[in-house]
This record gives sequence, structure tokens and C-alpha cells, in this order.
Amino acid sequence: MISRLEELKSKCETALQNADTVSGIEDVRISYLGKKGVLTDILKGLKDLSNEEKASVGQAANQIKTQITDAIDAKRHALERDEMNAKLVSDTVDVSAPGVGRGSGASHPLHRMEKLIVECLGRIGFSTVSGPEIETEFNNFEALNIPASHPARDMHDTFYMKDGGVLRTHTSPVQIRAMQTMAPPLRILAPGKVFRCDADVSHSPVFHQIEGLLVDKHVSFAELKGTLEFFLRSLFGDSKKVRFRPSYFPFTVPSCEVDLECVMCKGKGCGICKQTGWLEVMGAGMVHRNVFKAVGYDPEEVTGFAFGLGVDRLAMLYYQISDIRLLYENDARFISQFKGAA
Ligand code: DAH
Repeated sequence: MISRLEELKSKCETALQNADTVSGIEDVRISYLGKKGVLTDILKGLKDLSNEEKASVGQAANQIKTQITDAIDAKRHALERDEMNAKLVSDTVDVSAPGVGRGSGASHPLHRMEKLIVECLGRIGFSTVSGPEIETEFNNFEALNIPASHPARDMHDTFYMKDGGVLRTHTSPVQIRAMQTMAPPLRILAPGKVFRCDADVSHSPVFHQIEGLLVDKHVSFAELKGTLEFFLRSLFGDSKKVRFRPSYFPFTVPSCEVDLECVMCKGKGCGICKQTGWLEVMGAGMVHRNVFKAVGYDPEEVTGFAFGLGVDRLAMLYYQISDIRLLYENDARFISQFKGAA
């Protein structure tokens, strides 16, 4: 009986050596120590033995049971530790690895366009000033030679405030503010939002303009032409044709509209330029003497020119954007296309 027990012990040890998973070890435990296990059977059979045998076999069987139990536990712990170590290796977190980037944003095409214009004219001495979006009627109209009865007021589709102010309909009132606070000579740009009660596929009630003003002694129309030609050709290319068409604005005389050779068809005529080959890009003119008088400048002493351009329109031409609404929807997919752009 004792030798059978020894044999059983060594068999169990071999089985344990061959078991290489935690569940394999559990199988060994069940087949030796489980309810119907081999050793359990022997222990159950003890009652049929003689008293002496009972004592010796019982002691040996219990000893072997303890040894087998210990061996099983030791092997299980070793395997559990190995499994844990393997898991720790495979699940390693590299705390020095770079994080998952969110991607950088892109600045808005209107913002880029404004920056390009300001940089371009900055190279010939224009510096930027700003004014409020809520203006007085005086600055937005009267001082610009647009009295209350003037028909040009109708064209401005003005938003009037309850307290008598207006949402500025153009950036021209910043000319007035600049001249009221600074003495000539003056060379300024005023970028900003303007508002008109008008909305359809090509008009937004909020849009962007940049106003330019140069005042000095003996400023001539030739300087206006040279400056604006330099500006448009720097932006759109040296070979681009620029033309000046007579026009009317109350605050300048003579006044003109400035056309650029169509950027899409290069002057041949297309849908964008309405088959004319030209695109109207800004208004300009020599500052009216009434404007100088309104701000306290002496029109006998100084002359100057002014211009006003629509940033939205220029951005659409520059970046070839076909629908003005894209500029205001803030769709990240649209804006991200301008990441690498100038
Ligand atoms: N303020 C004009 C507008 O919004 C644009 C303009 C035209 C500005 C001629 C000027 C200018 O300074 O000289 O339509």
C-alpha cells in the first residue's frame, strides 16, 4: 500500500511537471485530490484496513496528500506569476511615447486675406488703425459728405441702433477718427467688420472691408494709381492688368472703381467676370475737401487719396472660393484646406 502511495506521488509529480497552464494544474488536482480523485479513494479505503495498517498507511497517505497539495500550490503560484509577468511585458505602457495629437487648427481664409493685404501695404508705409463697429451717424455719414438727405444713404441699408448710433456700413468712418486724432501726413489702413441689412447668395449682412487713407502735401491721383497697381499686382501677379473706371462716391472726387483682369479666365470672359474679363475689386478716389473740413484739416494745405475694398470678395478671388456662405459656416473641413496656404 505504501509503495502504491509512493508511485502515485511520483506520477502526480510528473503530471504536474507536464502541466503548463493554470487550468492544466487544476485538472491534476481534481484527478488526485478531487472528490473522486485517486488519493481520495485511498483515504476512503482506510476504514477497511487493520488498525496497525490504518496508522501507518494513514500517516503516509496524509503526508503524501500534504506534499501533493503543496506541490500543486507551488506550481500554480509559479505559473500565475509567469502569466502575470508575460502580461506585464505585453501590456507595457510606454510613458515616454508621444501623445495622440489633436491636429492643429488653420486660420480662416478671411483672416489670412486680411493679413496678406495689411502686410503688402505695410511694406509701403501703411500702418493699421481700428475703430468701433457701432458708429455715430456723423462719422459713418455726415463727416464723409453724406448728409441726411443724400440718396447714397439708401444704398447703405443701415442697421440703426435705438440710441441713434448705427452699425457701421463701411470702414470709411475710421478715416474720420484717424484724422480727428492724428495730424497729417497720414498713411493708414483700417480693417474690420461692416454691417448692411442685406442677405442673399452673394451678400452677407456682416462682411469685411479694409479702408486705406493717405494724406500729405501734394498727393496726386498718379500716386493713388501707382499705390493700388502695386498692391493688386503684388497680390495677384505682376502681369495682371489693372484699370481705373470713373465712378462716384460722396467722400472722394474724382472717384473711381478699380478693376482687376479676371483671375479665372485671364481676361477672356467667363461666368465669374460676367463675360467682361474684368473684376471690380475696390472703390477709391481723392479725398473730398468737405471731408477734410469736417475733421479740421485745411484742404488748401493737404490732399490725399482713400480706397475701400471688400476682404470677402478678394478672398473668394484669391483662394478661388465659389460660394460666400462657405466663409461664414465655419466648417472645419473647409477651413482646414487653407492650412498650407499663404
Ligand atoms: N466706403 C465705400 C463702400 O463701402 C468704399 C470706398 C470707396 C471707400 C471709395 C473709399 C473710397 O475710401 O475712396 O462702398
